[in-house]
Amino acid sequence: MPLEPKPGILDISPYVGGRASVPGVARAHKLSSNESPLGPSPAALAALDEARPSLSLYPEGSARLLREAIAEFFNLDPARIIASGGGSDALLHLLADAYLRPDDEVVFGAHAFLVYKIATQANSARPVIVPEKDTNTGIRLDVDAMLAAVTPRTRMVYLANPNNPTGTSLNREEMARLHAGLPEDVLLVIDAAYAEYVGAKDYEAGLEMAAQFPNVVMTRTFSKLYGLAGLRIGWMYACPAVCDAINRIRGPFNTSLMQQLVASAALTDREHFWAAVKHNDRWLPWITAEIRKTGLRVDDSTANFVLIHFPPQGDKTAADADAFMCRNGIILRPVANYGLPNCLRMTVGTEEQNRLAVSLLQQFTAA
Ligand SMILES: Cc1ncc(COP(=O)(O)O)c(C=O)c1O
Repeated sequence: MPLEPKPGILDISPYVGGRASVPGVARAHKLSSNESPLGPSPAALAALDEARPSLSLYPEGSARLLREAIAEFFNLDPARIIASGGGSDALLHLLADAYLRPDDEVVFGAHAFLVYKIATQANSARPVIVPEKDTNTGIRLDVDAMLAAVTPRTRMVYLANPNNPTGTSLNREEMARLHAGLPEDVLLVIDAAYAEYVGAKDYEAGLEMAAQFPNVVMTRTFSKLYGLAGLRIGWMYACPAVCDAINRIRGPFNTSLMQQLVASAALTDREHFWAAVKHNDRWLPWITAEIRKTGLRVDDSTANFVLIHFPPQGDKTAADADAFMCRNGIILRPVANYGLPNCLRMTVGTEEQNRLAVSLLQQFTAA
């Protein structure tokens, strides 16, 4: 018998990240990966130097330095934090590795972050994909439909709040209702990668739920608002039993000292944090309003990107827009693989990038 991977693995469509360049275009602006237009904090960059002497030594294995910094900042128990040097992506996988058995069911929305399906299939478990609601403000997760999809085989529910690529989020009450409807042997994974951008008062990133319930985990990242996508560092908060399971299977040195020092410095630079929040608060509504003036549908977003809808037919489709934008130096994200073939996702960029992108979309729609 030839060597074969576990069932499900060869059904996985590999994750394709946002493009960073366009052949033949000298200067292309990347608005395809929800990175921060402000980049990392100067304090984070300074911490890189501090990390230099550590490169030849194994780091302390539990990321104590970073866990303590996060715990102090958010007023949490450091023992219930696990850091990851592979971004929050790696934590989403570790949770699946720890809890999914073959043929278990994993529930998530029709336009969920692609890693949920990959982590599910990598463990020979079954994705249960739930339709989302198309409302007049955007495409939203449907809590009732999610709960209706739960069966005795369900082991996990993944949910990004805010969701990528739709940009919509659930409020505290909706999250509580979702959790209340789940059996206690189902793990609710709240992926709060974009939590820092949400201003709504009725939003709860998942910390309170993860602190209270043994079947809730919240994951976070330094990749988005903190401008450290290249550093690859994320963390999670969960009950001691879930942490114990993950700590048994994670890599023994899964965060470098460099990652810990840089992320800790980023966390404490509140000036940079607020500058990034303010930048997004200024440009997200502007982009949304300006693109709407072209006649294109743009959903209300609670994150650092917008979902733009294009006509399914004719010469102004999402694929036409993508090609036009790329030719003119703006790279957006096609999201057909998220079940949204008529949409493109645009990250909030610098002022220059935002103005260029909007004026190109005006030209595209007017042509
Ligand atoms: C919803 C969501 N979760 C998780 C991630 C992964 O982030 P990280 O860089 O921490 O792996 C992303 C990144 O695009 C995301 O959009």
